[in-house]
Amino acid sequence: MTFHTLNELIAEGVRGRYILVRSDLNVPLDGSTVTDDGRIKASLPVLAKLKDAGARVLVTAHLGRPKGAPEEKYSLRPAVDRLAELAGFKVTLAADTVGDAAKAAAASLQDGEALVLENVRFDARETSKDDAERGAFADELVALTGSNGAYVDDAFGAVHRKHASVYDVATRLPSYQGDLVHTEVEVLRKLTTDTQRPYVVVLGGSKVSDKLAVINNLIGKADTILVGGGMLFTFLAAQGHKVASSLLEEDQIPVVQEYLKRAADAGTEFVVPTDVVVAEKFAADAAHETVAADAIEGSSFGAQGIGLDIGPETAAAFAERIKGARTVFWNGPMGVFEFEAFSAGTRAIAEALTGTEGFTVVGGGDSAAAVRTLGFADDQFGHISTGGGASLEYLEGKELPGLSVLDR
Ligand code: 3PG
Repeated sequence: MTFHTLNELIAEGVRGRYILVRSDLNVPLDGSTVTDDGRIKASLPVLAKLKDAGARVLVTAHLGRPKGAPEEKYSLRPAVDRLAELAGFKVTLAADTVGDAAKAAAASLQDGEALVLENVRFDARETSKDDAERGAFADELVALTGSNGAYVDDAFGAVHRKHASVYDVATRLPSYQGDLVHTEVEVLRKLTTDTQRPYVVVLGGSKVSDKLAVINNLIGKADTILVGGGMLFTFLAAQGHKVASSLLEEDQIPVVQEYLKRAADAGTEFVVPTDVVVAEKFAADAAHETVAADAIEGSSFGAQGIGLDIGPETAAAFAERIKGARTVFWNGPMGVFEFEAFSAGTRAIAEALTGTEGFTVVGGGDSAAAVRTLGFADDQFGHISTGGGASLEYLEGKELPGLSVLDR
């Protein structure tokens, strides 16, 4: 695929032009406080570049999954306040997306200023499956750019969504790939072509069903897949172990068994935990103990026990594999890292990644938030991706609508 780049657009000249930029400002919030501003920081360089070149920057973005109507808790306000704080140039938020407020704010926008339109998902047409509905919304977004507009897709985290602000606007305006999307794609390409071996993939997170497609695609490509997080219990069950009250997707057991068998034939090694931290209940202060992975029901909590983290023996074994890797991709926390008592596994993996000589990629909103919450700095890793679902779908080998629509 080949794309027109942001630098080409700048070279064509943007002074006084309305440039529509799709950014990913979908950040975690605690009330109205942004708890991880990674995506905001990652979105800033493209906005600043356009502002420096004198563009009138119109930003579209989503936050959360509102149901197609405005809802205060999904307002982009906290994200835009943080963006404005970091930007050092004028960034404002329109009170609506394509309504009178957005039109008036866009009309009074000056060269070198940015206006963020309110959450595109406040309009049901953004995510509609109906091409005509999405198209009508895209027409209204495009109309805000006047007669000489252009579109820049810089929302890597949303390129897997065939949504109006990602896909349909690109069919209506001259379109360019933002620098963030460019960097992300280059990094992920390194994980799919000419990958330096050993290639170790660390997968965690709660649901195995979210990861099946990527696991399927990695069998035969990765040398080793380390399994942690809530999904590990479905792997243990697939190996015939009892998991007490731990998270289990019973219907996925046969799929996992098939993967384990196929991986053995394809030369990909799955490493499943040998010990886990089991808690009495799901709570930060729950009583807990470490037990062997094949003896979870033998913990003091019996059938009530819930596994909330990988154990120290597993963490050490995973760290050893990571240390010997030339390429590491990590998606999904190893345990409930938000609770201090169950954060050791995730911390051990983050530490192992920072200590390896190999090229390390942390993929996914949750894993990125986890490493920052645990006090690691972005530059301790080769790359922290802004894309969760998008990076997984890329590694699944799927066509991503937000990328293919920019292909010239
Ligand atoms: C993400 O958080 O991965 C992206 O912002 C996409 O959000 P979505 O899964 O709600 O489409």
